[in-house]
Amino acid sequence: MAKVVVTGGSGRVGRYVIRELGGSFDVLNADLRDAGGDARFLQTDVMVLDEVRAAVRGADAVVHLAAIDYDWNAAPEKYIDVNVRGSWHVLQAAAEAGVKKVVLCSSVSACGLSEMRSDWRPQFLPVDEAHENRPVQAYSVSKILIERMGLSFVHGTPMDVVCLRPLAVVLPETLADYLAFVDDPQRHWLFYYVTAEDVARGFRAALALQGLRYGVFFLSAEDTSHPEPTLDWYAARIGEVPPLANPRYYRKNPRGAVFSSLKAKQMLGWHPTSDFESLRAGLRS
Ligand SMILES: NC(=O)c1ccc[n+]([C@@H]2O[C@H](COP(=O)([O-])OP(=O)(O)OC[C@H]3O[C@@H](n4cnc5c(N)ncnc54)[C@H](O)[C@@H]3O)[C@@H](O)[C@H]2O)c1
Repeated sequence: MAKVVVTGGSGRVGRYVIRELGGSFDVLNADLRDAGGDARFLQTDVMVLDEVRAAVRGADAVVHLAAIDYDWNAAPEKYIDVNVRGSWHVLQAAAEAGVKKVVLCSSVSACGLSEMRSDWRPQFLPVDEAHENRPVQAYSVSKILIERMGLSFVHGTPMDVVCLRPLAVVLPETLADYLAFVDDPQRHWLFYYVTAEDVARGFRAALALQGLRYGVFFLSAEDTSHPEPTLDWYAARIGEVPPLANPRYYRKNPRGAVFSSLKAKQMLGWHPTSDFESLRAGLRS
């Protein structure tokens, strides 16, 4: 059974990834703290290169989730320290150990559009991986840097690197807060989400993919968390609708997401399974 090391496996997303991979892989959770569960655990600080070396020894693949997430509102230097240097440690240790593939957890933030700056709006809809990236906040900058570092390792070593960009991850325990956020009538936002189960399946799909040396993929739900058609709320909440890269996209699915998962569907065979109105109804009942 292939050995997969999951960094940050005790976190909100990590717990779903560990559950998804367990059964098919020999999974090791490398995190600062153990959250229980079935996977083997090795206390690992990704800021300590030798600890990461010990964790990835003998691994076939590494899923790197350990980071300071945007939600924790950390100091900018902390995002750069842990997310960038920690990711370099993981890539470096994995390359030294002859690991075949590293799947990095990037974020929608890498493109900068999550920052909702008046000078940086979607240039076309739906936004895909070809969209320009202009992050300025430290968390977002950390995520574009890890994608770029991953590419450097692909250029310099035989290791494959896949970067996944989940949208805002919704979990059962965070859904109520998320709903309160998106249902604010003044909310100026792009109403994106993806469920933790679907993100976990995205990591499995990235591990299974053969023959791709490097790739970046958004992992977005098919729909938005706004009840109205996307182009209507976009015009009302954000402003002028940019050019439509694929006009059929919103004709087929009027509540289609702002971020496209077409590339993940085509190349990873990953398909989001959620429907926001069902999630909303589930919380009410
Ligand atoms: N939650 C979201 O909406 C979202 C969206 C996009 C991307 N992401 C990314 O997904 C990944 C997981 O995020 P999450 O929401 O589960 O966050 P989380 O804070 O719940 O989990 C992060 C985990 O990383 C561990 N960790 C932190 N610093 C570490 C260190 N120095 N060494 C080892 N482990 C360390 C923590 O102990 C924790 O278990 C992160 O890379 C995050 O940036 C999250």
